Amino acid sequence: MNEALIKMYRSVGYIGPLPDTDPRTMPFTGTASDPIEELPPLDLKGLNELEQWYEKEPDKLLKTMGHLNDHPMTSEYFGEIIELTRNALTHPDDFLKLRTAHSTTRMMVESNRFVMPDKYPNYPDIRINPQSKKYEPGGDAIGWVLNTGSYFLLELLGIDKKKGFRFHDKNTDSNFLYSMKDSQGVPFGSGRPVRVGLFADFGTGEYHSLYIARHLERQFELDYAIHLGDVYYAGRTSEFRKYMWEPTENLMQKTRTFWMAGNHEKFANYKPYYNFMDKKKGMGPSGLQEQEGSYFCIRSDQFQIIGIDTAFFKNGRYKRKELLDWLKERLHEGKDHSPSLVTILLSPNEPYNLGSKKQHSLLKDLGEFVNDNMIDLWFWGNTHYSALFQKTSKTPFIGSCIGHAGHPIKQKNILNAFDKDKHGKGLAPASWVDTSLKFPQEDFPNLRPDLNNHGFCIMELHPDKIILEYYDWLMRKLNSVNFPIDHFT
Ligand SMILES: [Fe+2]
Repeated sequence: MNEALIKMYRSVGYIGPLPDTDPRTMPFTGTASDPIEELPPLDLKGLNELEQWYEKEPDKLLKTMGHLNDHPMTSEYFGEIIELTRNALTHPDDFLKLRTAHSTTRMMVESNRFVMPDKYPNYPDIRINPQSKKYEPGGDAIGWVLNTGSYFLLELLGIDKKKGFRFHDKNTDSNFLYSMKDSQGVPFGSGRPVRVGLFADFGTGEYHSLYIARHLERQFELDYAIHLGDVYYAGRTSEFRKYMWEPTENLMQKTRTFWMAGNHEKFANYKPYYNFMDKKKGMGPSGLQEQEGSYFCIRSDQFQIIGIDTAFFKNGRYKRKELLDWLKERLHEGKDHSPSLVTILLSPNEPYNLGSKKQHSLLKDLGEFVNDNMIDLWFWGNTHYSALFQKTSKTPFIGSCIGHAGHPIKQKNILNAFDKDKHGKGLAPASWVDTSLKFPQEDFPNLRPDLNNHGFCIMELHPDKIILEYYDWLMRKLNSVNFPIDHFT
C-alpha cells in the first residue's frame, strides 16, 4: 500500500491499522484468520465485488446497503458513490489534493477562529470544527463506503455471523438482572432519587459527542449512564477505543455504565463491543461496572429499566425465542410485584417514526407486551432526532426518541417530519420535538444553519414521580417534564 493510499484512507476517517501503524498501539487487533475485529477498509478488489453484486442482484445489494447512512440507497446514489470511491482508490493523490483545497484548510481556519461564548461550558481540549462534514450523507459518502463496505460484502456473501452472542444463561450464571443502586452501592429507596443519563447514536468522536460525554461526567452526579448503541462507522476496535472508551473513561470511574449495541456494533459482529465491555469491568471501585451482555434489567422496589438487543439477530427486530422469554419473565415479574413496577424499556431501534403512521416491525414483535400495558416508558435511538411522544391506544406507553447524541442531523428532515406530525400523520402524536439548531444563531450567526441539534436525556426516578430533562450539547435545558407515578399505574 503506497503512502498516498494510506493518507487517503486516513483522510476519510479510517482509524484502524494500516501499514503505517505501530501494532503495539492497537489493542485486540484481529488475527489473519479472524480479522473482523478490525474490519478492514474497502479496497479496490472489494469495490469491484460490490459492483459485481449490483450487476447480479441489484435489489439485494441496494437493500443490504440501505443501512449505510441516512441517504436512501437508490441505483443512482449507488452509481454515484461507487464512482467517487473508485476515483479515490485509483487516484488517491488527486483525491487528496482536491480534498485539501476544498475542505481541510477551511476547516482548520474555522476551528481556529471558533470561540465558545462564555455562557456555555467550554472544554478547551476539545477542538470544535464547525465545518466538519464527517458522517453526513452528502458530505461523507466516500467515508461511509470505505469504512463499511467490507461489512456489506460479508453480509452479501451470507457469512454466518450469528455466532458469538452472549446469552444470559449460556455463558454465565447470571440472569442479567441487577439491583438498582447508587454509585456507592446503596440500594434505591434510601430517599435520594436515582439519576440516569441516557444517550444514543453517540459514537462518532465528533466534538459535539465529546462535549456530551464531558457534560455527563462533570455536570451531573449520575448513578447510571446508559448508551443505547451505535459506534460509527462500524463498531471496530479502533473506533470503540477512540469514540466510546476514551470519551467516557472518567465517567466509568464513578458511574455505573451500560452500553447497548446497535446495527453498527453488529458490523464488527460485537467483538470489539464485548471486548471493551469486559475491560469496562475493571473501571472504578470493584463491582461498579456490572454489565455482562447486550441486554439487562436494572430493578428497584419501584422501577425497572430493561435494555433489549434489537440488532444482533436481525436489525430492528426482537424475535429470538430466548430473548422474548427473558423479556416476558422480567415484565411479568414487574407486573406481579406489589406494587407493580414502573417499566422503562430501552431499545437501540425505533417502534415508530415521527410523522408516520407505520408501525415498525419491532412494535409488532413486542405487540403482546405493549397491548398488555407492560411497558410504561420506551426510549430508543437509531433514528436521529429527539422527541417525546404521547400515549395512544395503539402505543399505550410514553415514547421518546433520543438518537441525537452524535450522528449529524439535517434540520429540514426533522421539520418535514414534525410538520406531518402536526397534520395528524403520526402514529403517536409528539408532545415535544427538538427542532433547535446545533449552533444557536443568536450566538453563532450563519454557522451551519442546516444542522439540527444534538443532546441527551437525564431521567430522575423519584418515589412519587419521574422527571425527564432534555439537554443539548451546549448544556442548555431544552425540555423538562414531570410524570407523577400514578400516570403509569
Ligand atoms: Fe445510528
